[in-house]
Amino acid sequence: MGFLDDIEPLKQAALTELNATADLPALDAAKGAWIGPNGKFTALMKQMGTLSKEEKPLAGKAINAAKQELEAALAARRETLELKAALPSEPTDWTLPGRRRAVGKLHPLTQVTDDIVRSFRKLGFVVADGPEIEDEYHCFDALNTPADHPARDLQDTFYVANNSKPEAQNAKLPLLRTHTSSVQIRVMEKQAPPIRIIVPGRVYRRDNADATHNPTFQQIEGLYVDKNVTLGDLKGTVEAVFKDLLGSDVKLRFRPHYFSYTEPSLEIDFTNALVKKLGKDWLEIAGCGMVHPQVFENVGYDPEVWTGWAFGFGIERIAMLRYGITDIRLFYENDTRFLKQF
Ligand code: DAH
Repeated sequence: MGFLDDIEPLKQAALTELNATADLPALDAAKGAWIGPNGKFTALMKQMGTLSKEEKPLAGKAINAAKQELEAALAARRETLELKAALPSEPTDWTLPGRRRAVGKLHPLTQVTDDIVRSFRKLGFVVADGPEIEDEYHCFDALNTPADHPARDLQDTFYVANNSKPEAQNAKLPLLRTHTSSVQIRVMEKQAPPIRIIVPGRVYRRDNADATHNPTFQQIEGLYVDKNVTLGDLKGTVEAVFKDLLGSDVKLRFRPHYFSYTEPSLEIDFTNALVKKLGKDWLEIAGCGMVHPQVFENVGYDPEVWTGWAFGFGIERIAMLRYGITDIRLFYENDTRFLKQF
């Protein structure tokens, strides 16, 4: 066999081997085996020296062309294998959450709610949910709120007209929940104790919009029911969460208050550098107390066995404090000049 006849089969063998390599180390090894200093193709090139003067130009041209072809194939294979190495070995799950939102931002109230929820989760609370269109039973009666309580007045609560059912005209009307406390009842009706929930959600009151009030706002309700639960647990829990949210300089103060669904009932004031900045000593932040035995009776829990506490606070208030916002209505106007700042 002549020199020229050897080039093509050797090149073909080299190409087959290069293109069959599975990864970059295998490609490097194949490269060495063919065109490295001791490679099989290099060996053929070295035989050029044994050719006659007449044979050399043609053979040189042929072997250079073959070598160029091998190098191009090598480069192409390298590119393919590099790409393969960069891809994850597992199939990609496109439904996984991204590290960063591709577009837009979360509303400041959503951000604050997420932070509050995260903080309570650390303490073992889970998120519960309930309807925004409620009935009087869950919003008031089951919470031990008497029928003549002023909170139930038409001036304070949005009732939903029920024109479609004439037979329901005199029945109790559905309403927009005035607080998230209704979800306490809904959860306890369905679940046996112990209970450790938080309920972030929208509530509605017939407040006229002014700088600090809006007819709809958001609350977080908390409920903890177990044996031997104390107000000390409540204080520790609320304190831990507020320190998490607003800084380790937070101080709490508890004042006696009245809620129909707790006994004793308390209001929580708190202070820290942010409150001082507003020129105030304390800011009222939440209502709370030990769950009233009548509420336990209403949901079928034995008040002799179970104890619990509950609280509710407004999310806007915390967001306003955190970001130094003085007008609550900014949260609902969806002015991007405002929203872009968070
Ligand atoms: N529902 C009350 C409000 O809207 C807040 C509240 C007070 C919730 C005491 C509670 C509680 O769970 O125990 O102002």
